[in-house]
Amino acid sequence: MSTLESIATGPSAKHANGSLEEFWMPFSANRQFKAKPRMFVSAKDMHYTTDDGRDVLDATAGLWCCNAGHARPKIVDAVQRQIAELDYAPAFQMGHPKVFQLAERLAALMPGSLDHIFFTNSGSESVDTALKIALAYHKTNGQEGRTRFVGRERGYHGVGFGGISVGGIGNNRRFFGSMLTGVDHLPHTHDLSKNAYSKGVPEHGADLADDLENIVALHGAETIAAVIVEPVAGSTGVLLPPKGYLQRLRELCTKHGILLIFDEVITAFGRVGNATTAAEYFGVQPDIITMAKGLTSGTIPMGAVAVDAKIYDAFMHGPDNAIELFHGYTYSGHPMAAAAGLATLDTYEEEGLFARTAELAPYWESALHGLKGLPHVIDLRNIGLIGAIELQGIEGKPTARAFNAFLKCYDKGVLIRTTGDIIALSPPLIISKQQIDIIFDTISAVIKDLD
Ligand SMILES: Cc1ncc(COP(=O)(O)O)c(C=O)c1O
Repeated sequence: MSTLESIATGPSAKHANGSLEEFWMPFSANRQFKAKPRMFVSAKDMHYTTDDGRDVLDATAGLWCCNAGHARPKIVDAVQRQIAELDYAPAFQMGHPKVFQLAERLAALMPGSLDHIFFTNSGSESVDTALKIALAYHKTNGQEGRTRFVGRERGYHGVGFGGISVGGIGNNRRFFGSMLTGVDHLPHTHDLSKNAYSKGVPEHGADLADDLENIVALHGAETIAAVIVEPVAGSTGVLLPPKGYLQRLRELCTKHGILLIFDEVITAFGRVGNATTAAEYFGVQPDIITMAKGLTSGTIPMGAVAVDAKIYDAFMHGPDNAIELFHGYTYSGHPMAAAAGLATLDTYEEEGLFARTAELAPYWESALHGLKGLPHVIDLRNIGLIGAIELQGIEGKPTARAFNAFLKCYDKGVLIRTTGDIIALSPPLIISKQQIDIIFDTISAVIKDLD
């Protein structure tokens, strides 16, 4: 429909910049947005600027991705130079230097022997890639029977058919079904009756990992390819791993020859503490790590999958000219993304941003927990530069109270994110203490004013 037609046919959304009707927005309330749009036109460091000229403080690093902040000079410069120098190189059977350099840098930042990197373009692609690698690994290793996966309730692993199958979000699965057969789910670890208002990882719930034994008993270990979990679940409202839980999962996977995949799409790149990954932070070594987002600080789409040496090595046999893994994307390791990735890693390193997370975490924690006692607040939880404020939902109107908080915060110049009735916060790692104060003062004022 043309702009003119859409205007002519009635209530279609219009905006100073043209029609809003044609763009089907992802994971958005399209009609609500189009009736009252919220538009960002530029960004710098910790702030977005709206089309009506207001600065909005970014308490969410975009969508958990702009860990280095916005429009950082080194990254901007690298991308600008790259497009002029080499815009694209075929990803299959050809290479370009920067993608090898990035893989080498990234491998050095991964824990233990996770020393080979497969590039993708998003978190969802990283997850589906990791699942495929796990299946192919067992097959190549003579264990064809290992075809089942274990995910976790309230897990989010992106929107590919693999990711929604191992994910544990009702709406993702209800509409599209579980396309992978043979998937079980561990129970989630969110238990407010025992762990409400935990500072850092909660005390209770490590034993929930033992449920894996039941799944093994049901199907046989020899049928299970991999367990996939987020070390800290973000999209379903910041669910922290109970003390000892990830260690226990690791022990059980090792015992049963099951690969352990950490989906670190939001936790990698300094989000949880002075460490590149949550695996390193928690001292738990998975077999595969999926990443995206912070890899390029959200500037150019890119994802990556880090795999253990034993997995890569298992594929490296047969004739030299044979393709070892039948998988890849036209834009795997795109030159612009590789350039952005290298400049992003430089920025993290030169500015000591992962150490900064650890330095700011105590201040962040006490500012967040200062909201205790406000109306509607039923839990506060945090780790690194992640925070969650769980609100009591309005009876019969789930999500409405938190979404209202989101709108009011936006009006007051702070970008937050909500999922269900939970406010999830994940600012760029360059945030200052003063900006932390602004975020929590604003949220506090907004919560006091909520219905
Ligand atoms: C843990 C996790 N996995 C996968 C994804 C999907 O990433 P993308 O939206 O880049 O496909 C996300 C996105 O938030 C995520 O949080």
